[in-house]
Amino acid sequence: MKVDGKNTRTIWVENDGTCVGIIDQTLLPHRFATIKLKTLDDAVRAIKTMQVRGAPLIGAAAAYGVWLALRADASDENLERAYAALLATRPTAINLKWALDQMLAAVRNRPRAERVAAAFKRAGEIADEDIAINQAIGRHGLKIIEEVAARKKGARVNVLTHCNAGWLATVDWGTATAPIYLAHDKGVAVHVFADETRPRNQGASLTAWELGHHGVPHTVIPDNTGGHLMQHGLVDLVIVGTDRVTAQGDVCNKIGTYLKALAAHDNKVPFYVALPSPTIDFSVSDGLSEIPIEQRSPDEVATMTGKTKDGRIETVQIIPDGSPVANYGFDVTPARLITGLITERGVIQANREALAAAFPERAKLAS
Ligand code: MRU
Repeated sequence: MKVDGKNTRTIWVENDGTCVGIIDQTLLPHRFATIKLKTLDDAVRAIKTMQVRGAPLIGAAAAYGVWLALRADASDENLERAYAALLATRPTAINLKWALDQMLAAVRNRPRAERVAAAFKRAGEIADEDIAINQAIGRHGLKIIEEVAARKKGARVNVLTHCNAGWLATVDWGTATAPIYLAHDKGVAVHVFADETRPRNQGASLTAWELGHHGVPHTVIPDNTGGHLMQHGLVDLVIVGTDRVTAQGDVCNKIGTYLKALAAHDNKVPFYVALPSPTIDFSVSDGLSEIPIEQRSPDEVATMTGKTKDGRIETVQIIPDGSPVANYGFDVTPARLITGLITERGVIQANREALAAAFPERAKLAS
């Protein structure tokens, strides 16, 4: 997508071919800055501190992290060390493990002298594949938006989304946003309600920023507003992203997604999940009991960071001194609440049979 008219991906290899460039997402929306990752430790830190975040981008960053590690030392021991260090960065998004397994398979059985080149090639492919997957998700999701637009005789289609499943969460295009960008570019009147997504505010700071840069009409709403909008017929459909989908179609995504799914169900608003296949975890079935939910620092809940009127970035405490805090990063939406999964192979139902039929090679590997 474009930043100030310039085509930009969220991750790239720098021109000198020795390090990886990323957008520091912790500074958005108030500052756009890029940083260079030169070592495994840099990649680990970037994922942990959420300079890069979003399931597909975490996977791509981890893949490049393996390349950076092997550039320093291509031994088996260092490969294992890199795999373990990167895997430990964030527990919920399965794309991380998927990408690391891909990297392991690409380099493990090669002589040391070939490993760096093989890792570079596979990391680049993972990044490029992510873009192709998201574009395909966009094409399938576009049909859904166009159907609503036709039913509404061209009146604007209101899509509600949660967190940031936009291009910033992927290498490009985004998952939930890909159909929206395609619809907008095609001239379909589309408007997005972006949940602010406390505590880290990815909706307010990232989704709003990227939609604004692409010229997509949008409104940022407090997290608790979606139900009210749905009761008043102001949301035509919900499209969210996901960090892990189980073999039976349960969807894990940013905390608060489940409440939106419940509200959508109660109000008969279609609830879609944009799902790139690396986000499917066929090794687990019951999302509630089997997906590890990341718990993050209490500080994220206890404070808020923003821009003051005179342009300074400041962090302020918003709870009483000493009040305990809980900070669960994700929740699980049961398959029964999901209208459809928008995958790169088409829109499918959220159930075991449909997932296995759409991705037989992945389902077979896990069985
Ligand atoms: O904690 P984050 O910002 O990494 O969480 C991101 C989300 O929950 C996204 O919705 C999900 O990763 C899908 S990204 C296409």
